[in-house]
Amino acid sequence: MKYGHFDDKNREYVITNPQTPYPWINYLGNEDFFSLTSNTGGGYTFYKDAKFRRLTRYRYNNVPIDDGGKYFYIKDGDVTWSPGWKPMKTRLDSYECRHGMSYTKFNSAKNGVEAQILQFIPLGFWGEIQKVSLKNTASETKKLKLFSFIEWCLWNAEDDMTNFQRNFSTGEVEIEDSTIYHKTEFKERRNHYAFYSVNAPIDGYDTDRESFLGLYNGFDNPDVVNQGTPKNTEAHGWSPIASHYIEVELQPGESRDFIFMLGYVEVDKDDKWERKAVINKKPAKAMMAKYNTVEKIDTAYDDLHTYWDRLLGKINIESSDDRLDRMVNIWNQYQCMVTFNMSRSASFFESGIGRGMGFRDSNQDLIGFVHQIPERARERIFDIASTQFEDGSCYHQYQPLTKKGNSAIGGDFNDDPLWLILSTTEYIKETGDFSLLDEMVPFDNDASRAKPHFDHLKASFYHVVNNLGPHGLPLIGRADWNDCLNLNCFSDDPNESFQTTGNKKGKTAESLMIAGLFVVYGKEYVKLCKRIGKDTEAKEAEKHVKAMIEAVKKDGWDGDWYLRAYDYYGKKIGSNENEEGKIFIESQGWCSMAEIGKKEGMVEKSLNAVKEHLDCEYGIVLNSPAFTKYYIEYGEISTYPAGYKENGGIFCHNNPWIMIGETLLGRGDQAYGYYTKIAPSFLEDISELHKVEPYVYCQMIAGKEAFKPGEAKNSWLSGTASWNFFAITQYILGVKTDYDGLVIDPCIPSKWDGFKMSREFRGATYKIEVQNPDHVSKGVKRILVNGKEIPSNTVPILEKGKAHSVQVIMG
Ligand code: GLC
Ligand code: GLC
Repeated sequence: MKYGHFDDKNREYVITNPQTPYPWINYLGNEDFFSLTSNTGGGYTFYKDAKFRRLTRYRYNNVPIDDGGKYFYIKDGDVTWSPGWKPMKTRLDSYECRHGMSYTKFNSAKNGVEAQILQFIPLGFWGEIQKVSLKNTASETKKLKLFSFIEWCLWNAEDDMTNFQRNFSTGEVEIEDSTIYHKTEFKERRNHYAFYSVNAPIDGYDTDRESFLGLYNGFDNPDVVNQGTPKNTEAHGWSPIASHYIEVELQPGESRDFIFMLGYVEVDKDDKWERKAVINKKPAKAMMAKYNTVEKIDTAYDDLHTYWDRLLGKINIESSDDRLDRMVNIWNQYQCMVTFNMSRSASFFESGIGRGMGFRDSNQDLIGFVHQIPERARERIFDIASTQFEDGSCYHQYQPLTKKGNSAIGGDFNDDPLWLILSTTEYIKETGDFSLLDEMVPFDNDASRAKPHFDHLKASFYHVVNNLGPHGLPLIGRADWNDCLNLNCFSDDPNESFQTTGNKKGKTAESLMIAGLFVVYGKEYVKLCKRIGKDTEAKEAEKHVKAMIEAVKKDGWDGDWYLRAYDYYGKKIGSNENEEGKIFIESQGWCSMAEIGKKEGMVEKSLNAVKEHLDCEYGIVLNSPAFTKYYIEYGEISTYPAGYKENGGIFCHNNPWIMIGETLLGRGDQAYGYYTKIAPSFLEDISELHKVEPYVYCQMIAGKEAFKPGEAKNSWLSGTASWNFFAITQYILGVKTDYDGLVIDPCIPSKWDGFKMSREFRGATYKIEVQNPDHVSKGVKRILVNGKEIPSNTVPILEKGKAHSVQVIMG
């Protein structure tokens, strides 16, 4: 069953039934200022940091779901309705929610009134616009009462939800003209406030939640709206809100537009006050003036479209399947921008108070984003690298507002450092900018300990070399990519976190996943060293990579697949000898990508085993059989019910590792088959089961051993976005960036006749047309660049500012 449809021309998903199986959300904002918006108007806004600078309040895991947000109430006679359906949930004559590229639109109608709401954040602006248009389509005059509603968050979202003994006494607002200012704590250490305004005179307002709703009422039953009269309240403590009241008279056929703005202001410390106890509103007024007419809004909205045209224009494909085209051209790239901005902080599954930017997460997010805005990727790489230590280890997370490593979480996730080699080399391949290697980047955020960025990569590489276990394989530390394989944790206390507890200081537990990762990015490191003339270092590093390959072949192979790990006692994990968890996806993915033992047939056997033991209707599960009891020596992985999350769930993040492995074997049908199982646009028809948005990837789909296989959770913020984009564009469609050009090596379903890709690269546009006359999956017979055959499958760097034709004949 579907709840809407794709509108590819407008790059929108159009939801036509508000009662989606879960709130289907969108993100507004691209740089500093962000909002989450659900298909019924739920969600919240923050500046830079969803924990420390939250503007509006949102209650997670609420009953009913997704209650609270930015709401409008339209009172038309006895009937009150909301254009986003919620909170009133009045049956609408028509409803449509269009989630587009950084904007959301609602189009609804009730009893001869049409309402349109356009929500977006203009580029470079610290404010959200809501353009509300009301039209009378009836034959009589309409006297409407319009109420807006938001609820302020007292800035620190965690404190806001816990520290009530203080917070119920601190809330403060100011009201002037049509603007409600939120200034809690402004008098002390804050030099920022927020405001909610409308570009029209108002007929009343409310700023105290209890007065507006009534103490015992929900958002769907506000006292003030019921009575049709505002109370003009000024909040003192308790819960400040902002609600405007406007009387709107519309003749038949007449329409009116209102521009609401939710803005954020920072003022100089010495310029905080206009006069005693009155905040300096000058900057807020300048913001309102900037967007106070429909024309100005329309221009800003056009600019946003142009911005996305430019970003999405960089990679564009035409295949024989719309579902693929819309993933690659629109939604997957869009999601990569969102994961770049949010890391794992704020979604409808991440509360915005738990996690900041992850070292491993943000590095991986870059590979789906770097082509969009390389300058921002460069900056991000330095932010991440600055949280590393001289020995290569690093903080697992940092807070975006302070950019400081989070010491409560700490480090010792031994895969972390290697991902910096991935992000850095992908950045250089995209841009050709080797200069970042020479930039001075601090260790541990201490400028006096800065070293050239290259030294950070070197530290990353040697962190593995210096932390090997008894089999010469990498020590896992707290965990590797799989946060739930906690082999040194040994936790029997339900109140301690698997992520941060290490009850044993183990020097035995080793990871085959890190081993494969090390071979892949170790080789990349060697290649980079050679490329920049560090030959001695390249030779030295190469020895360590070779040793790792040998160690995997000797002690990492189980006969039909790669082992997953050795535990604290030196026992095998992910072996046929185990009763449960006989085979795991991560080591099959990474050791295959590293092509360890390919000649000996290990890669082929491993991927065949994946097919046989891990594949199911909805994707590839993480491990099999799933654990049915708690293994203290394995940790969190065995806490999850079978088939969910890291215990036998389909972790969409790691499926592309297998797809990439398959392409290295030349098995295009298999690689693409795996792709279509988890790509959201291919799942639209089963939205009822899938539950989450059909336009973005989720982190996990319940696996074959789950209670409800195919049901998905945790949409949006997952490395799944970047890895799937990377796998489909660079390995399946096979247009891969490299230091000296674009390497063309598709691995596609044999029945395809070919496809087209337009790819901006180093300032030129490559118009690639792949033809597959012999219906092979892999193999490039000839490449013609601007009509001339080239000797290899690396298309060189071509003249900037021009379009070049690249004709590829497979066979
Ligand atoms: C989550 C984390 C990621 C981790 C994965 C597997 O998605 O964000 O860092 O690798 O789970 O445990
Ligand atoms: C839990 C989750 C994992 C996530 C981690 C983050 O272990 O299962 O997916 O990465 O928490 O802290």
